[in-house]
Amino acid sequence: MDRVKTGVAGLDTMLSGGLLPARPYVVSGPTGGGKTILSAHFLLEGLHAQEPCLLVTLDEPPIEVKSNMAVFGWNMDRLKILDATPDVRAHKRTRSVIDVGTSLDVRDMEQVTDIRQSSQVRALEVTVHSVQKMIKQEFAQHLDRTKQRYKRIVIDSMTALKMFSMHGEDSRILIQSFLRFLSELEATTLIVSEHLDRTVLETEFFLSRGEIRLHKWLDGSFIRRAVSVEKFRGSSFDDRMRPVAITAKGMVVSLDSTPQSREPSSGPKPGESLLETRIIEEVSNAIESVMRGIEEAHRRQVAIRDIEVALSRAMLAFQRRNYQKAMKLVLSCDSALKERIGVAPPPPTPTAPPRPPGGIR
Ligand SMILES: Nc1ncnc2c1ncn2[C@@H]1O[C@H](COP(=O)(O)OP(=O)(O)OP(=O)(O)O)[C@@H](O)[C@H]1O
Ligand SMILES: [Mg+2]
Repeated sequence: MDRVKTGVAGLDTMLSGGLLPARPYVVSGPTGGGKTILSAHFLLEGLHAQEPCLLVTLDEPPIEVKSNMAVFGWNMDRLKILDATPDVRAHKRTRSVIDVGTSLDVRDMEQVTDIRQSSQVRALEVTVHSVQKMIKQEFAQHLDRTKQRYKRIVIDSMTALKMFSMHGEDSRILIQSFLRFLSELEATTLIVSEHLDRTVLETEFFLSRGEIRLHKWLDGSFIRRAVSVEKFRGSSFDDRMRPVAITAKGMVVSLDSTPQSREPSSGPKPGESLLETRIIEEVSNAIESVMRGIEEAHRRQVAIRDIEVALSRAMLAFQRRNYQKAMKLVLSCDSALKERIGVAPPPPTPTAPPRPPGGIR
């Protein structure tokens, strides 16, 4: 299978040539770790190969993204940027930037106008649904205009999206369906996400096909950086941590050494033991299968809210590394779903001719 290069030569070698196409991956790491710079390499690599690329920015306004990247001499003018930063009015727009607030449908538009007409600049309602809808619209329009699909997408960042719009149980359901949505676009996607709490597994980490983790730590008076591939489904990879430097040309990974001083580790990392990796994979496959069932149920208009809540509890157990409980819950969701879909009528066919007024008896 062809590989999708990240644009960072050493990292591509670590990934046995690059990422597998049309799948979502997570880029994780602390603030200042180089996540945005790595994402820019990935997008630039696509632009050089004339691939349509899309950046959804939630952390920094587009103008800042572009000027930060100009420091490295990178021209991102051909990059399509979807601006989902919450205070959109505060930033100057350029033509390749789409504003989440102006491209929504009429109902959303009214809500947005309400917020924007106030004299103060207030947080724009950025929700997973509005971001998802925007990406969908942009995809369709781009395909219509150019007869080409977007090949590369970056979401920078999922952490911001969660902070703006998701709370509690629903967030796991939302992230799950957002990741499925991204998979269906058949673009290679990087989801930038901070690993805020190492003792829990964030939903996007176990649902993505792989994780590239950036590390940054203080060694005496030096800042050390490194990169590791934590997970890469369907491919071999270099499982050692490799030193990283951010230079005038961007990110450089050295393959001939491992970091001189290791990052101080706080507790076990997700995916550290082989057995745990296998269990994680098994439970996440089961969750994925239930999610497909949930989508099918939605298509058939079967009420399954209770199953969605149960799945959300399963994900919580999973995040807390209670794999046994998680699997038990997922399996019961699975059988409940099968039962309900089994007795439900097939989905209505949209092409069916409309009934004449009054109906036929
Ligand atoms: N020209 C440069 N030369 C050397 N280092 C640089 C240069 N430009 C940026 N950096 C370093 O790169 C880091 C920023 O990387 P980046 O913005 O990709 O981080 P990030 O992981 O996206 O952070 P955040 O989570 O805050 O968005 C900064 O810490 C800065 O030290
Ligand atoms: Mg960043």
